[in-house]
Amino acid sequence: MYRTNTCGELRLTDAGKQVTLAGWVQRIRKMGGMSFIDLRDRYGITQIVTENETLNESVSKLGREYVIQVTGTVKERQSKNSKIETGDIEVVLEKLNVLNPAEVPPFTIEDVSDGGEELRAKYRYLDLRRNPLKKALELRHRMAHEIRNYLDSQNFMEIETPYLIKSTPEGARDFVVPSRMNPGQFYALPQSPQQQKQLLMVAGYDRYFQIVRCFRDEDLRADRQPEFTQVDCEMSFVERDDVLEVFEGLIKTLFRNVLGKEFNEPFPRMPYSEAMDSYGSDKPDIRYDMRLHEITSLVKGHDFSVFDSVEYIGGISVSGGAAYTRKQVDELTEWVKRPQIGAKGLVYLRVNDDGSFKSSVDKFYTPEDLKAIAQACGAQKGDLVLILAGGKKKTQTALGALRLEMGNRLGLRDSSVYAPLWVVDFPLLEWDDETGRFYAMHHPFTAPKPEQLKEFYSDRKEDLEKVNANAYDFVLNGTEVGGGSIRIHDAEIQKRMFEVLGFTPEDADYRFGFMINAFQYGAPPHGGIAFCFDRFCALFAGQETIRDYIAFPKNNQGRDVMLDAPSRIDQVQMDELFLSSTCPNND
Ligand code: AMO
Repeated sequence: MYRTNTCGELRLTDAGKQVTLAGWVQRIRKMGGMSFIDLRDRYGITQIVTENETLNESVSKLGREYVIQVTGTVKERQSKNSKIETGDIEVVLEKLNVLNPAEVPPFTIEDVSDGGEELRAKYRYLDLRRNPLKKALELRHRMAHEIRNYLDSQNFMEIETPYLIKSTPEGARDFVVPSRMNPGQFYALPQSPQQQKQLLMVAGYDRYFQIVRCFRDEDLRADRQPEFTQVDCEMSFVERDDVLEVFEGLIKTLFRNVLGKEFNEPFPRMPYSEAMDSYGSDKPDIRYDMRLHEITSLVKGHDFSVFDSVEYIGGISVSGGAAYTRKQVDELTEWVKRPQIGAKGLVYLRVNDDGSFKSSVDKFYTPEDLKAIAQACGAQKGDLVLILAGGKKKTQTALGALRLEMGNRLGLRDSSVYAPLWVVDFPLLEWDDETGRFYAMHHPFTAPKPEQLKEFYSDRKEDLEKVNANAYDFVLNGTEVGGGSIRIHDAEIQKRMFEVLGFTPEDADYRFGFMINAFQYGAPPHGGIAFCFDRFCALFAGQETIRDYIAFPKNNQGRDVMLDAPSRIDQVQMDELFLSSTCPNND
């Protein structure tokens, strides 16, 4: 037996017991004739102490991160440490056994490490020894456990679906895998098990879920990874509200059992159009107000050519912002002009404490006009109205980004406050000017609202643009955590959807023939949702970056720095797979 107890377990009540512990040397200290070892394992840290000369000698040969086994007697500490759970006791060393020495680690394995991100990624197994990462993975484990319990209690069956599937042209880029047994042919790794879960509904497994890895070859951000984990769910014989009710129950259970937070009220539901109009985002952060206000009709026609020439003008009111200096406003103007935001400029309107106005467009507007604008934007004395103008969607989105930035600057986005939200009634389709075709806003299996089937069968672009989907997103604190929809279960409607998306019948048949076929053999009405498990975990911990909640994540270039992957494969492997590379530096 390597150990009788863990390093997080011993308390005052254990005083007098002889114990054996095993773990890693966190730190060694010498004080006079005494040596102290902080011994660490997954469960905590226990202080080991000795005054014995021979043992002192052995301790002095230890280094950080050595794996050791100690036997000794538990004793009450003289100077207690209230910061750790075992802080009332120490173990008086009787026997020390080095299980494995260790090289000096490349960075300190403390809560706050001195190692840079890249270095810590290369030695991820050392980084994972640190408390913050251990806590992150513990939270992840707990969440997975709670999800399985809840869904099991609701009759959901966990069913695995394949990782080697067929490439689909919609959505993000696929990761592909060459098939040795089928020369020249490729599998794709699933972007999500969307089609398989729908086929499980056709097969009669009316409540399915899976905590499943998904793969998307897209540009990375703090909340995106090329492989990430979904809590993927599907239900039969349901309408939208049935799905929302079951999963609101799941989220509330997680809040209660993991964070000890009760949500007694139903989560708010907001139509997509309101989210865009009032927050400039399809994933509004509703922890604070600062809504967008359209002032197009109010400000046009005053000979200010910038406003007169655009489709949309809108503003947000920043509480207390009148105190901003000219320099601060100039800096904000530069901020909105950054390519990621893309605004041409920023107009401001300051409502001074004495009720007077100062704005960058004073000469086009009377004080009464300015007062009306301030009122329309909900500004009070002491506030600053920030105004952007341009195409409607682009300007709303830019204002939405400015709203988030101001929220950050004003400390309104408190990570200990949780504001869940369902965004509903998404448009079914999105027109893309570049390719001159419609794309499914969610995915091609999402059903149009039944009452809009007439428009769905229309050939006019304007009619099709109006069709809403029975789709919904779950948003937490401005992050989209999940998305889903009621699906098409009628083969004819599915065929029409592919037609609207510009597939020829042959192409649709080649790509998705199996789905259309399946729908002809008794497909029940069904719908579902998928949550990003990594985002859920990060947000529950009040973080935006998902990397810490994944044991072995990729970096911003999609690389596993520890494995040094992706990497080239040798010629024999290439030949076996009938592959040759056209990459110039692949020699
Ligand atoms: P969707 O594409 O909206 O829907 O994905 C569901 C959720 O997955 C998360 N997500 C990601 N998380 C991390 N890294 C990524 N690269 C990434 N891409 C997406 C988002 C999103 O809300 N099959 C449908 C679901 C359904 O209709 O049931 C789907 O995958 O949080």
